Amino acid sequence: MPSTPNSPPESPLSIPLPPAPKTRIPLLGALPLVTKHGLLKASLTCWRELGDTFQLPIGSRQMVVLAHPDHAQAILKKRRKNYIKGSAYRNFRMLAGDGLLTREGERWLKRRRLMQPTFQAKNIHLLAPLMTRLSGKMIERWRGQFGERATVDIHPEMVLLTQQIVGEALFGLDISDRSEDATRALDDALACFSKRGNSAAQLPLWIPTRGNLKLRRALRTLDKTVYGIIDQARHTRDGTQTLLRMLMEVREADTGEPLSDLDLRDETITLFLAGHETTALTLTWALYVLAQHSDVVERLYTEVSEVLDGRLPTIDDCDKLVYTRMVIDEVLRLYPAVWTVARNTVDDDELGGFRIPAGSIVLPSAYLTHRHPDFWPDPERFNPDRFRAGAKRHEFAYYPFSQGPRICIGNSFSLIESQIILATIIQNCTFTLDPSCRVEPRTQITLRPSGPVRMQLALRPQKIPA
Ligand code: HEM
Repeated sequence: MPSTPNSPPESPLSIPLPPAPKTRIPLLGALPLVTKHGLLKASLTCWRELGDTFQLPIGSRQMVVLAHPDHAQAILKKRRKNYIKGSAYRNFRMLAGDGLLTREGERWLKRRRLMQPTFQAKNIHLLAPLMTRLSGKMIERWRGQFGERATVDIHPEMVLLTQQIVGEALFGLDISDRSEDATRALDDALACFSKRGNSAAQLPLWIPTRGNLKLRRALRTLDKTVYGIIDQARHTRDGTQTLLRMLMEVREADTGEPLSDLDLRDETITLFLAGHETTALTLTWALYVLAQHSDVVERLYTEVSEVLDGRLPTIDDCDKLVYTRMVIDEVLRLYPAVWTVARNTVDDDELGGFRIPAGSIVLPSAYLTHRHPDFWPDPERFNPDRFRAGAKRHEFAYYPFSQGPRICIGNSFSLIESQIILATIIQNCTFTLDPSCRVEPRTQITLRPSGPVRMQLALRPQKIPA
């Protein structure tokens, strides 16, 4: 059968497999390399030595890392039917069930069409005031808690704020009270989930290990809480618009049926999980990199002062906070919170002259592509001016939110949120890296700092708006 750009070409066995690191050993593959340096550093080293397409076998898992935008485009767009979300999303499914992020094929398409209108601009406008209010509240708390200056690990602060924002956007719930059952269950579930993600042996949930029992307990409490919130939302009409209420109002195109409680549970947990850590990391990396670029901070402060004149930023200011947005775009280039997406290969394919056998896990990596010297001059340099309006580039040279049909549904929500939070911080604070702060990016599913991002934070005197 002749191949088309949308179907994998026939791949005779004579086509070579991608090169693999020389240091790999039988049975373990590149595991010692990855254990020693971490997946990110190992990938960077292999990329330099082996080129844009290389194998990184880990035990029996055949992983292929890809740095060229053409290959990301083939996997995520042109031949996407050949690349499915398989085992890589097993842990996420355990917590979030059968939500948009993990669905496949027709079931995914149907759900995406149903949910897309929930994220349209007019709904983000409805939710944005809470981003302004909660960012302002964080600054007030910092003033009370830290006085004029303090040394602060900035990442937990960003996680707390983005959790509050997405929690309130979804459920209308103030989740800053960590003693509430809902937040405790979520914290427990997230902690177990993250521990599971890091452990080499992930035993099935029915095996009664201590970790599994704790996770099962947390999931039960979480379910009880989320179903309670859904039930309450069904029976109260206080006019507060939340993502949950918006999702309750959508109807299946073919049957006219609303989403079931189970669907609502899975989608709200999916949005909560996909929607806070990613944005928190983007802001943490932004502050980390800005602390080392005082010229950029100066330009940001000038823009924020001119546009806001002491007011807190709102969604209506975002179009005018052009440089703030360029800074966020550049942070997402150098530190894409989702450093790679993962797919399982259905049929043999060929990418960049190499055979990709069925069953391989392919990792098109935004982190590598965003540093590709053929597409980004002086790629390691932090330079927000790359994102001036009208700059042209390959469709997949920049894809922090992925690209193609499965592009992140929350990308506008997140960009508005990041602009509002960053502008609020720049308006109210100065910050430098604490001399003891030594971090580098580490990968789990997301691109996290290797340790606390300690900053010396000073609060600017409050300006009363004219
Ligand atoms: C800086 C922040 C964010 C980044 C870097 C990011 C990145 C991504 C990426 C790379 C994907 C594709 C994953 C894949 O196909 O394997 C994705 C999908 C998704 N994201 Fe985001 N995301 C961010 C914020 C958000 C927010 C705020 C929400 C929701 C409120 C959200 C909800 C989702 C959902 C539901 C999907 C699945 C979409 C689908 O498959 O149709 N994300 N995101």
